[in-house]
Amino acid sequence: MSEDLNIATGTKAEQYAALLPQVRAVIEGEKDAVANLANIAAALKEQFGWLWVGFYMVKDGELVVGPFQGPVACTRIRKGKGVCGASWQQARTLIVPDVEAFPGHIACSSLSKSEIVVPVFHDGEVVGVLDVDSVTLNTFDEEDQRWLEELVKAIPGVNVF
Ligand code: SME
Repeated sequence: MSEDLNIATGTKAEQYAALLPQVRAVIEGEKDAVANLANIAAALKEQFGWLWVGFYMVKDGELVVGPFQGPVACTRIRKGKGVCGASWQQARTLIVPDVEAFPGHIACSSLSKSEIVVPVFHDGEVVGVLDVDSVTLNTFDEEDQRWLEELVKAIPGVNVF
């Protein structure tokens, strides 16, 4: 298949609806987790232009940064720390409309104003998180949550994290 992403315009739902099948087509049949996560991060960044899109993976009891697009980020995050560590600990998506109002937020980039973190599950365990940062306040809502949760479910081979 073509590796060119067809960038959609329209509402957020229309953009996600156009993106998801393309992402599925790219990762389908590929079992290498790093390859798939890299392409997912790239596709989201291309479509939405967010500041930072990427994955942190649970390794030896910590989150360690994985494939991402955007500015250089913190390498390791402990359980319960920051938005990512809290999402991991609580095993649920966290939407942060204003990062400065989130106690313990870890500022990897001073440009980040709002954030969403979506856990990636394998066999009922959180094996990593998808983290997205935006340069504007209030970027993410329940609609992003639904689509991004759907997207991370499509990741095959997360057990090789
Ligand atoms: N802000 C995150 C840290 C990761 S970076 O945004 C890439 C947090 O508070 O967990």
